[in-house]
Amino acid sequence: MHATEWDIVQPSASPVFEALRAFGYTPETSIADLVDNSIAAKAKNVHIAFVWNDGDAYIVIKDDGEGMSEQALVDAMRLGSQSPVVERKKGDLGRFGLGLKTASIAQAREFSVVTSNAKGKEAAVRRWNLDEVQETGEWRLRNSLPIQALDDIAFSETGTAIIWTKCDRLIGDPATGSHMTKAQFLRVADTVSHHLAMTFHRFLESPRRLRIYVNGSEVLPWDPFLTDNASTYSPGKENLPMHGHAIGVTPYVLPHKSKLEGEEHRRAAGVYGWNAHQGFYVYREDRLLVAGSWLGVGGMKEEHSKLARIALDIPVALDHMWQVDVRKSQVRPPASIVRDLERIGRATKAKAQEVYRFRGKMEAARSSQKFVFAWLQHKDRDNNISYRVNRDNPVVRQCLETGKANAAQIEQLLRFVEETVPLTQIAVHLASSLESSQQPFEEDTKGLRELLQFSFDRMLTSGATGEQVLDVLARAEPFSLHPGIVAAFQESMNS
Ligand SMILES: Nc1ncnc2c1ncn2[C@@H]1O[C@H](COP(=O)(O)OP(=O)(O)OP(=O)(O)O)[C@@H](O)[C@H]1O
Ligand SMILES: [Mg+2]
Repeated sequence: MHATEWDIVQPSASPVFEALRAFGYTPETSIADLVDNSIAAKAKNVHIAFVWNDGDAYIVIKDDGEGMSEQALVDAMRLGSQSPVVERKKGDLGRFGLGLKTASIAQAREFSVVTSNAKGKEAAVRRWNLDEVQETGEWRLRNSLPIQALDDIAFSETGTAIIWTKCDRLIGDPATGSHMTKAQFLRVADTVSHHLAMTFHRFLESPRRLRIYVNGSEVLPWDPFLTDNASTYSPGKENLPMHGHAIGVTPYVLPHKSKLEGEEHRRAAGVYGWNAHQGFYVYREDRLLVAGSWLGVGGMKEEHSKLARIALDIPVALDHMWQVDVRKSQVRPPASIVRDLERIGRATKAKAQEVYRFRGKMEAARSSQKFVFAWLQHKDRDNNISYRVNRDNPVVRQCLETGKANAAQIEQLLRFVEETVPLTQIAVHLASSLESSQQPFEEDTKGLRELLQFSFDRMLTSGATGEQVLDVLARAEPFSLHPGIVAAFQESMNS
């Protein structure tokens, strides 16, 4: 018989900590999570130091925010210091009461927090050491720093510093020989810097609300939308109402490559490149959560829609509906807004494709010879319209010429195709779904590349140079519709 109707089952300290290390943070998403806390504490400056320390590396993230009292610090070190169910104040980027802990232990087996909430007041210190928790099996929170050298962390007024030591996850394990070199460690600092430039760009842009320094260098904002560039297109912001709040959606189509200087084009690409950075950019209180994703509602990431980037502002009060994850790197749009996002995504993609292709066609037209279509319209004496495969298109011509023995057969095949084009069905289909009509090879870039290689190889045997052959092909359909693929082919040819 039980004396009560329940058992109290406390979690075991060490397994909980070890499990929480596996949320999938990268060094840059971990540090961004700590910067969230600094912003919530009204910091104006955040200094991040990557200290190699002869391979026993440590990292310090220090801000000049409001700091915490000693009791607040102890609460802050608790797993789940504040419930997600409690609505946050405006400007508080936190949500789960976990970030400080989960972000830190994802990189290090030990982390300390030093904080002061009044000028001249002695700083309070607390530290979790996962090795000690493992040995003792107790939630034993230390009140001292691990390294003497860190004692000189001082705040001119108020502020908080987080120190990661025993950075096993971040720099690897010497026992297995997978320990980073100093150069690799400093490259991580670089990656972090780029990630912060992107994640907090709205805070770093003027009017500047925040300055971030990584190893002394100031992080400059990365604006995904090139809003300062006159050639960036935007139809403006649309507010989608949702449960008494508004979701702000601002589509942008970035300028064609030809309108950007080399360095500007390279920087605009972003850390992961043009293709990866297309899609929705989701902001929560101006903090970027997702840097380019079609969120499962806008189709695939494709070369020809890479100029489409759409800002999406979600209010903190609707966090739960967007399923924001602990790392603040993923969201899922609520069902009630999916149709609107699809609509806006489709329109922005169409516009982006237009910019991408139009410039390609313009470039082709600028060339001395004219654009070579794949099909030509044919009118007979009674003005009946039919369509003919263009025998002068290099893809077709080269088949007819190189296959001389079979030329008559190929000619028969072309006549067969021309006479059986299902014009009526196409007309009906287009009238009912104009938006979804496709460009040639839109979904099959591999096939297009193969056709390009095939035609190129055949035409080379005629004695022309590679440069001349490619010039002819670049102006002919279907290649003229995909200048990016032709350019990539040319690059691979030159390398
Ligand atoms: N740099 C800081 N300056 C002042 N207070 C801080 C700082 N970092 C953390 N805190 C305090 O510690 C608490 C816990 O932080 P933690 O990041 O674990 O959770 P959170 O920010 O509330 O939510 P989330 O899990 O979404 O990050 C914060 O709510 C805040 O009160
Ligand atoms: Mg937090």
